[in-house]
Amino acid sequence: MARPFIIAIDGPAGAGKGTMARRLADHFHLSLLDTGLTYRAVAHRMLSYGLPLDNASAAETAARQVDLGSMDRETLSQHFIGDAASQVAAIPAVRRALVEKQREFAKTPPGAVLDGRDIGTVVCPDADVKLYVTASSEVRARRRLAEIEARGGTADLQQILADIERRDARDMGREDSPLKPASDAHLLDTSEMDIETAFQAARMLVETAMATRSKD
Ligand code: C5P
Repeated sequence: MARPFIIAIDGPAGAGKGTMARRLADHFHLSLLDTGLTYRAVAHRMLSYGLPLDNASAAETAARQVDLGSMDRETLSQHFIGDAASQVAAIPAVRRALVEKQREFAKTPPGAVLDGRDIGTVVCPDADVKLYVTASSEVRARRRLAEIEARGGTADLQQILADIERRDARDMGREDSPLKPASDAHLLDTSEMDIETAFQAARMLVETAMATRSKD
């Protein structure tokens, strides 16, 4: 059977990697896994049971119980869960348990798009295409505010910016699998690029990789 085709997308919160991942998965008929939801599911379980987020053994148990097929995006997308997720994501045993599930998902034919922080560096280092989608923290904060306002909510731009910068620092500074571009990743800075332009650039990179693979 042909080796599954894997697209790895990494980058900081709010850079547009989720939208990019969804569009690429739809376009190329690949499965999609937002790995951030797996860390959010662990955080959500810990918060629901009132457990401290630095309780490593409880967090590991919660990670083992994560079922990729039943993660509720609506619940898990809440802002406070993102921050809690980045705390449990620093626990190596949590990462080991979740990475195992993510790799299992990735290798199911015909292949998959995975987005997260360590896909190109740790989860799928042999991915066919690696993208690192980024944008300045100011642009990401403004986009997040626009999303909240579009849903009828209100928020403070400076507060969102501070939250984004705190989460970036935690994700980039942790010892186990810090957020960074893989050495062979294509960088896509969406600060001054709309999603359509970024998607077309990514689509071309994927098509080139597919054409190269079909010659092997
Ligand atoms: O992408 P999202 O905002 O849903 O991710 C929530 C948190 O989960 C991130 O801030 C990060 O700490 C963690 N995460 C991770 N590795 C991944 C995906 C997410 O550490 N592959």
